[in-house]
Amino acid sequence: MRSKYAKADPLGRLPDVDPRRIPRHIAVIMDGNGRWARQRGFPRIFGHRNGARALRETVEEAGRLGVEAMTFYSFSLENWRRPPEEVEALMLLCVAYCEGERDALVRDDIRFRWIGRRSGLPPEVLAALDSVVKATSACTGPTLCVAVNYGARAELADAARAIAHEIRAGTLNPEDVDENTVASRLYAPDLPDPDLLIRTAGEMRVSNYLLWQISYAEMYVTSTLWPDFDASCLHAAIRDFAGRSRRFGGLDASGSMKPDSGADPVADPGDARA
Ligand code: FPP
Repeated sequence: MRSKYAKADPLGRLPDVDPRRIPRHIAVIMDGNGRWARQRGFPRIFGHRNGARALRETVEEAGRLGVEAMTFYSFSLENWRRPPEEVEALMLLCVAYCEGERDALVRDDIRFRWIGRRSGLPPEVLAALDSVVKATSACTGPTLCVAVNYGARAELADAARAIAHEIRAGTLNPEDVDENTVASRLYAPDLPDPDLLIRTAGEMRVSNYLLWQISYAEMYVTSTLWPDFDASCLHAAIRDFAGRSRRFGGLDASGSMKPDSGADPVADPGDARA
């Protein structure tokens, strides 16, 4: 399935990449906001504000490239350990982002989602997130998903708890619990698994992000700080991704373990997973 988004023009935007090799879902760890601000002598929140601008530009370009979904790590469960003034500023930024982007998202036919734990988030943040989800629920273009108050281990624990409740209620047989049972109880089970995970600011770790869903994602780490990430950075990441050989634990089309020529479309994990 490929994007039917009216603004999608992958060949026009990235003529050197086979449109069949554009990732369906890109997950992003937006790192480096604080460093970006510090380099300019500004407080950290200045970096986060500019990070929100980069997020908007990246989503717009991803839509034009035919990417179906992007999920951005916006506030982790671990981020509560930051100084209270930074946490408060990030919560205010989340509300401002939702209120400021709502109409533009509807106009651009972008569907907004969010994943994370509801408990612990201030009511005004929940209301702002939910209102954009509602306003864009009929949009049929790309999905913009933000992870807020999110941790992958917490998501898996929540799924395990849901399964335990169903078993206790007698609606689920323990023998029937398989990977699909778990996957369907994650926060956004209808989104395809990310094909590509981008991390900015150079750190080589996954930081408790989408641990189940990124099992077969290709990783792309750039030293660019998130507020500097733009369309050309996204192009570079996708170009790199398009040149990878994805084997999902099996072999490529030629039966080789070596990277292929890039001539074949990206395989569907459902077809090739070992
Ligand atoms: C990591 O950089 C970034 C964050 C913890 C916050 C990212 C949030 C945004 C870009 C705002 C958008 C928010 C919403 C809800 C749409 P860092 O501060 O850890 O950078 P550093 O490692 O340089 O200190």
